[in-house]
Amino acid sequence: MYLSQLRLLSFRIYHEASLELLPGVNVVLGQNGQGKTSLLEAISTLALTRSPRSASLGDCVSWGEPRMGVAGHLVSRIGETDLELRAERQQGSERWLRRLRQDGDLIQPRELLGRFRVVLFWPEDLLLVKGGPEPRRRLLDVVLSQLSPTYAEAATKYRRVVEHRTALLRRLRDGQATAADLRPWTEALVEHGALVTRERRLYLATVEPLAAEAIRKIGEPAELQLQYQPGLGREHQSGEERDPAEALRRALNRTAAEEIARAQCVVGPHRDDFEVLIGGRPARQFASQGQQRSVVLALKVAEVRQHLSLGGETPLLLLDDVLSELDQSRRTGLIQLLSEELAVEQTLITSTEDPQIEGDVAVSQVLQARGGHLTATPQPGEELAKWKV
Ligand SMILES: Nc1ncnc2c1ncn2[C@@H]1O[C@H](COP(=O)(O)OP(=O)(O)OP(=O)(O)O)[C@@H](O)[C@H]1O
Ligand SMILES: [Mg+2]
Repeated sequence: MYLSQLRLLSFRIYHEASLELLPGVNVVLGQNGQGKTSLLEAISTLALTRSPRSASLGDCVSWGEPRMGVAGHLVSRIGETDLELRAERQQGSERWLRRLRQDGDLIQPRELLGRFRVVLFWPEDLLLVKGGPEPRRRLLDVVLSQLSPTYAEAATKYRRVVEHRTALLRRLRDGQATAADLRPWTEALVEHGALVTRERRLYLATVEPLAAEAIRKIGEPAELQLQYQPGLGREHQSGEERDPAEALRRALNRTAAEEIARAQCVVGPHRDDFEVLIGGRPARQFASQGQQRSVVLALKVAEVRQHLSLGGETPLLLLDDVLSELDQSRRTGLIQLLSEELAVEQTLITSTEDPQIEGDVAVSQVLQARGGHLTATPQPGEELAKWKV
């Protein structure tokens, strides 16, 4: 699938922008702070109906504006469609009201999930290797919500149960609720949590060989492994993967007193993590800068493959400032892998300077980002010989 048109209204640095995008590789060049990341963020925000960068859509609205909009024309195998996401500040409050339209009709965000797919790589993703568990959980959530409606529903319900149960634990600690009040919420936590766990475990097991193959193709010889670490606390026992509901229930029994004392849900998928091993060693401690990039890119390539095997459509690939720390051969290896082998229909690559992609990779257009304006250079149709090495 690909976007043929994009319009932005009061989205971060973009007060009003409209641009044509082409199938193939679209390079976005610009100096620091000129709106490259914001452009990719806008596309992801339309696909995910929330920003991958900020918890609140309000952060994406140009400072001082009461509303923002992102609209795009999506071309996919099942047809063409117009999508529009708007956020408007509610009168007299800090809340932002989100509205999503498809071909002019209001739709629910879940109706769009899986319809418009994006795979985004940006510098923050390096935290996937070096950072705490939060970005790894977010990756699982973003990917699985697009790939599996069952996961999307279970994860949403699970988040709500954790919120409600936490409030209840606080009241229980303060003597304002009883253990009987908590029981149905514990059961709901087990029910939705077990589903989330099962899907996450399955996803990691499926993408591990795909990511291992991808990292070899990018040019990294070391073996890559992904180990799921369910958030069941330190006493997690082997064999518990067979029945995640039972394992979660046991962990909840074990930590019942601690939960009340801390007024927190201390075990469950909201505490999950996974370990990335490279050459048998934790990548967090031992991977070099370039290797960290290669690991994250391999995870993204595996994600694209997983989209392909499940839905047959290639997602849009958004690569923000990815190429700078890869050496020439890994850079070219990556682009070839993405555009030829995976047949990604559309890629947007941002860079502060000429990305110098070598090999037989055709760049469709080069866009210049400057102070919230985007211009195509050269104009579509003109010779792009410079970019075809
Ligand atoms: N809500 C907002 N409203 C207006 N401007 C914003 C908003 N949020 C961020 N900005 C500004 O938008 C500008 C562009 O940011 P962006 O991250 O897109 O730049 P970039 O081209 O990716 O830069 P770099 O090369 O440094 O990564 C920044 O100067 C930033 O301060
Ligand atoms: Mg940027």
